[in-house]
Amino acid sequence: MQTRVEKLKEEFKKQFGSDQNTRLFQAPGRVNLIGEHTDYNEGFVLPAAIDRSILALARPRKDKQVRIYSLDFKNLFEFSLDKIKPVKDSWGNYPMGVAEVLQQEKLKLKGFEAVFESNVPVGAGLSSSAAIELVNAFIFDAFSELKLDRVKMALLCQKAENEFVGVKCGIMDQFVIALGEKGRALFLDCRDLSYRLVPVPSEKVKLVITNTKVKRSLAGSEYNQRREECGEGVKLLKQKLPKIKSLRDVTPEELAEHQELLPETVRKRCTHVVRENDRVTRAEAALKSNNLREFGRLMVESHNSLRDLYQVSCPELDLLVKNALSLKGVLGSRMTGAGFGGCTVSLVEEKSVDEFRIKSGRSYQKETGKVPEFYVCQISDGVKEITTS
Ligand code: GLA
Repeated sequence: MQTRVEKLKEEFKKQFGSDQNTRLFQAPGRVNLIGEHTDYNEGFVLPAAIDRSILALARPRKDKQVRIYSLDFKNLFEFSLDKIKPVKDSWGNYPMGVAEVLQQEKLKLKGFEAVFESNVPVGAGLSSSAAIELVNAFIFDAFSELKLDRVKMALLCQKAENEFVGVKCGIMDQFVIALGEKGRALFLDCRDLSYRLVPVPSEKVKLVITNTKVKRSLAGSEYNQRREECGEGVKLLKQKLPKIKSLRDVTPEELAEHQELLPETVRKRCTHVVRENDRVTRAEAALKSNNLREFGRLMVESHNSLRDLYQVSCPELDLLVKNALSLKGVLGSRMTGAGFGGCTVSLVEEKSVDEFRIKSGRSYQKETGKVPEFYVCQISDGVKEITTS
């Protein structure tokens, strides 16, 4: 069977003549282990880059044209760096958005041509959008010798998504795709962007991602609404806690003491965020002391809170988690990403992985009529150039 790289090379020749002087780049998707909807509240997250990725074979151009072909969409997208304008519903907005924010920084960009291929499922909550942003930022950086550091690159890609694509996401996805490392999860403080890489054992336990195949439909508007509800909570809590800047500054005890200030929905949202931050800290400690049972227990608490308090789960995600927890060898399971569809992540003992796939797949299909997909994943490096031989 043709490898991914062979496919890229063949298509590159077809689109752009020869594949001489091309270079190969890769940006992974991500899975969030715990710390959901905390990033835009300046809290803590614990995601990891995974071995599902976007590959790009690219070559610099002498002019200001960017010509990029997507093998997945079978589509050639072309724009000039001198004339950047969003195009409705096009994947080209991600690369264009990245070019736009880089140029706003007064960086001089060279055009390039590239072929992209991805095995990160789109709309499944594994950050295919952040991956396409980062791979483009990395290509511009390499070809135009920008020498951007990775934190800056992540911030600029988030800006592209916020301002050009128009999705008000937090920093988690771009950050872990820029700075993730093989075998390690990334604990990030989303206020000051300090981070630590925490080894995740991979011999006896596996991270199994299960795709509900429900596209994250409501995600956009509901996501922004949750952000606003959190902001509302901060405003109200300030009456008694004048020093707080975000929910990150509120402890579970303080929230319990002042909860009468908040209307019910806002109280639920705030309770999720404040306790989730606390869970991330405890999950990191559990991981460091190799207490995977505790880690799994916190994952389940996180899921229940996202379902009942933050209300961003959906019946299919709940079903997958419930089924997972009834199976042998499952230490924890939760929805991952923004919610309303997408994927769950489960921590499963190695010896039980096959049974997990069979049994959980069977009951999900029986109850929903949908065939779920499973990705037993390895934690991988963030965006990088790879050598082809
Ligand atoms: C999406 C956003 C992230 C984060 C998660 C929820 O993935 O892109 O910034 O807010 O949702 O934790």
